[in-house]
Amino acid sequence: MSVSFEGRVVLVTGAGGGLGKEYALAFAERGASVVVNDLGADTKGGGKSSAAADKVVEEIRAKGGKAVANYDSVEDGEKVIQTALDEFGRIDILVNNAGILRDRSFARTSDLDWDLIQRVHLRGSFLVTRAAWNHMKNQKFGRIIMTTSAAGIYGNFGQANYSAAKLGLLGLANTLAIEGRKYNVHCNTIAPVAGSRLTETVMPPDLVASLKPEYVAPMVLWLCNEQCQENGGLFEVGAGWIGKLRWERSQGQIVRQKNQPATPEVVRDQWDKICDFTDATKPTSIQESLQSIVSALSSVESDEEVGANPTSASVASASGINPAEAVGQTLPPSTFSYTHTQCILYALGVGMSTKDPDHLRFLYEGHEDFSCLPTFGVIVSQAAMMDGGLSSVPGLNIDFTQVLHGEQYLELYKPLPTSGELTSKTSIADVLDKGSGAVILLDVNTYSGDELVCYNQFSVFVVGAGGFGGKRSSEKAKASLPPPNRAPDAVVIDSTTRDQAALYRLSGDWNPLHIDPSFAAMGGFKAPILHGLCSFGFAARHVLKQFADNDPSRFKAIKVRFVKPVMPGQSLQTEMWKEGNRIHIQCKVKETDAVVLAGAYVDLHGASEEASPENLTQGGGLQSELVFAEIGRRIKDVGPTMVKKVNAVFGWEITKDGKNAAQWTIDLKNGAGSLHKGPLSGKADVTFTVADGDFMEVVQGKLNPQKAFFSGKLKVRGNIMLSQKLEVILKDYAKL
Ligand code: NAI
Repeated sequence: MSVSFEGRVVLVTGAGGGLGKEYALAFAERGASVVVNDLGADTKGGGKSSAAADKVVEEIRAKGGKAVANYDSVEDGEKVIQTALDEFGRIDILVNNAGILRDRSFARTSDLDWDLIQRVHLRGSFLVTRAAWNHMKNQKFGRIIMTTSAAGIYGNFGQANYSAAKLGLLGLANTLAIEGRKYNVHCNTIAPVAGSRLTETVMPPDLVASLKPEYVAPMVLWLCNEQCQENGGLFEVGAGWIGKLRWERSQGQIVRQKNQPATPEVVRDQWDKICDFTDATKPTSIQESLQSIVSALSSVESDEEVGANPTSASVASASGINPAEAVGQTLPPSTFSYTHTQCILYALGVGMSTKDPDHLRFLYEGHEDFSCLPTFGVIVSQAAMMDGGLSSVPGLNIDFTQVLHGEQYLELYKPLPTSGELTSKTSIADVLDKGSGAVILLDVNTYSGDELVCYNQFSVFVVGAGGFGGKRSSEKAKASLPPPNRAPDAVVIDSTTRDQAALYRLSGDWNPLHIDPSFAAMGGFKAPILHGLCSFGFAARHVLKQFADNDPSRFKAIKVRFVKPVMPGQSLQTEMWKEGNRIHIQCKVKETDAVVLAGAYVDLHGASEEASPENLTQGGGLQSELVFAEIGRRIKDVGPTMVKKVNAVFGWEITKDGKNAAQWTIDLKNGAGSLHKGPLSGKADVTFTVADGDFMEVVQGKLNPQKAFFSGKLKVRGNIMLSQKLEVILKDYAKL
């Protein structure tokens, strides 16, 4: 794909000559509509003329390009941007380039020398950028360039005023990169070197002639293209060479001891170590920077003799991901209120139709069995993430334009109500390093009041964020499973409509990728794509109809892996294999035969389960049932690891209303581990007796097991020391 600016509106400030002119010509040549801003000042900021900008506009037009001139000073930022809006209707790209020089040795720098330089470079870039900012944010696209200088980065004799303003621009860019990231508004900084009227007084004429501005322009164009994901970078560029800069920080040295004053003498004595760049780190964010300072604080308080930087292994990587910091963090709880309208809208979003009489129970609130589709459980839970909650998690400094939805697991503990207010609590369960990217596992528990309604695990893939030295797999991950090796037991083909994504998004996923053609193009798609969770909804209801008579109470859980996108209008082919109460599924696009959902399955409750007398008397209505079911599944997945960690047999007597209601044995001593429901066999090392409600309180961390024990709510027989291992089973594995 070539680097094109067709349809883009570009503003280059100070484009009447030098570097700016070269940028303007190059953008226009590649299809952009260009606003050529130049005040037509002399190099010191004096005078004013429209000739400079006009000449560049003429040159662009003569070549068949689109350009208009603007003669305002960058100090009139609003006016400069208004020209772009008036003439071309939008503003996509802004190159802050205008500049002047008033070189003086520091002692001779006057107030005017100082102020003029700050006003044109720093304040001018601020004013023009602020005028463009909301337009870029609202359209979810923007590329901004700040122009710094080697004089700012390294200092230069006679340029105190200029150095200060130029490095000020880097600070401005650093923060804009952070604030703009989630709106796809990127800001980068360049320190160019080129022969121009600004440099002809300081460089020999030969060099001025050979360091052509046209060698710098390609870098500016690339940074401003929608294909380029660079954000917050600093580059030196000249003569056709480009290099990237970053900060480096020494391991550092702690210079005080617990309960003792810090002294300049200690600083002096540790000076070599403070300045030693052996094993230096490269912090990329304020969080990483602070992390070392805070860890220094705790090592001083705990009297450890270590450097201010944690070992390089525990320091966040250049990608900004630090699992040690991120895992276990929680997002602010989110509340989701809904009525039957949202349930119906969702059902329509995942392709239900009144054409099928069976669908009416999900589409008509007056239907005698009116129900909410089970997969609506992802909608009620995703709010915390949709609100951008992830961006505030320490240790997860990631580029949000690079986030893909990789996998999804949903489990319902009761049918979803058709209206209500649900609260979701989201935590970072794990962060994995897959080399080409990072996987973030998010566990979301959704409650109605105190009652757990459903559990989701979102698995998101961050392209390019891998390589931070983390683990590749996690026992916390809900695994996908391959289908059996035989022809499917059932196949359902269902078409999506051209407006499927436009309809589905109304349920709360507003990502423009699914509706805005230019946004989709930026992600490399020919057109907006269907939401992965929409195909997920299609597949789930195919199973529900085929194997559970459209009865939502039969639905237990679903897992899918998103493999390829679906375009609205394509047909989905769901292939199903029944293995007991587990229905394996694979979803393809019928037209292309491409697999879109893989490793997927739906777990159903057995049809006879509710009717069985054992369930009515024993399991019926016990909340602890859910936890044991989960423990059972975890034992299947990672039994040997649990056996190794725990090495004991636990007996449980769950009571309800003072009566014995269920008994369970968790055997984590023998072989791969096992879970058994029924009378206790006597082989348990320790046996707990607890009421169903208290058990849930303990599991949810609301009731401390020790407290429960001392207050008599939890009775223990056998090896009481083993209760300490409960945490491993309940917290780590039951994930409640
Ligand atoms: P230049 O002097 O050829 O271009 C600067 C342009 O900005 C001029 O056309 C001038 O009329 C315009 N301008 C000045 N004040 C303005 C204002 N208030 N409003 C609108 N336009 C205004 O200089 P050159 O070399 O092309 O510099 C471009 C940028 O690159 C500047 O920001 C400069 O500081 C920076 N830079 C250049 C280096 C070089 O080697 N040429 C080195 C480091 C930084």
